[in-house]
Amino acid sequence: MRVLKTMAEMREVIGAERRRNSGAIVGFVPTMGALHAGHLALVRAAREQCDRVVASIFVNPLQFGPTEDFSRYPRTFDADCEMLSDEGVDFLFAPTGKEMYADDAATTVDVGPIADRLDGASRPGHFRGVATVVAKLFHIVTPDVAYFGQKDAAQIAVLRKMTRDLNFPLRLAVCETVREADGLAMSSRNRYLSGEERQQALVLSRALQRVKNLVAAGERNAEVLAQSMKDTTGAEDAARLDYAAVVDADTLLPVERVAAGTSTLVAVAVWIGNTRLIDNILL
Ligand code: PAJ
Repeated sequence: MRVLKTMAEMREVIGAERRRNSGAIVGFVPTMGALHAGHLALVRAAREQCDRVVASIFVNPLQFGPTEDFSRYPRTFDADCEMLSDEGVDFLFAPTGKEMYADDAATTVDVGPIADRLDGASRPGHFRGVATVVAKLFHIVTPDVAYFGQKDAAQIAVLRKMTRDLNFPLRLAVCETVREADGLAMSSRNRYLSGEERQQALVLSRALQRVKNLVAAGERNAEVLAQSMKDTTGAEDAARLDYAAVVDADTLLPVERVAAGTSTLVAVAVWIGNTRLIDNILL
């Protein structure tokens, strides 16, 4: 695996690949590092489906709010490199903050009202930061397919919209959420949890499982499903609910009923102590 620290080097190696084999399919897995099996599932899908695999590690300051965890976000670069190399990644793009953002950089990507829904409502400016860095990464890496996890469902909706609206010549591929054996969705932020909080965090997957059971039993009313998530999280003293939402998976707008032929996203965000966790299922 070659590690590229500058945009110039990254462009150069991808350019050389394209000159060598103009038909090569380039797969791209953007990450913020602190890698776990969820990230590696994206890499594995890319490895299976593409000729060349590029991953990136960049903790993007633009997508963190002023009171959020940018400075303490876990950074495990050496271990990450070893995992990516073992998975057969060809190129790792790992720029510094200065390399990615010039001091006078001012242009951002605003995807409109969708960026203010779900996580965008609780994290103002977050999706502007995500869309901006992903647009930049797409320009630098020029992938044919970019891989994202269903775990961050609102991020997918925002990036689908950006990709369409700005005519990026690539396809987004979405991989299922990878979970721990007890149901907790894998997340770099799970490292923040104490032993006790780790148990309390199971309330997210439990809330979603109850919704699944209700839907299997015939319940279609979104209000009832949302209330069930509120009840489940409310019963866990340590959990503070951020949102419990039943929305259209593409627009992130609330739906009244779960209807056949549409894609309904059931999403939950909960604070456990100082850690904000998210999870979701698609109906
Ligand atoms: P990060 O949180 O590192 O996640 C990188 C990718 O891994 C995202 O597409 C995310 O959805 C996926 N992922 C995380 N946990 C997962 C899990 N348990 N199962 C499946 N996929 C999972 O998301 C970001 O970084 C950033 O916002 C980024 C897109 C890199 C832009 O900075």
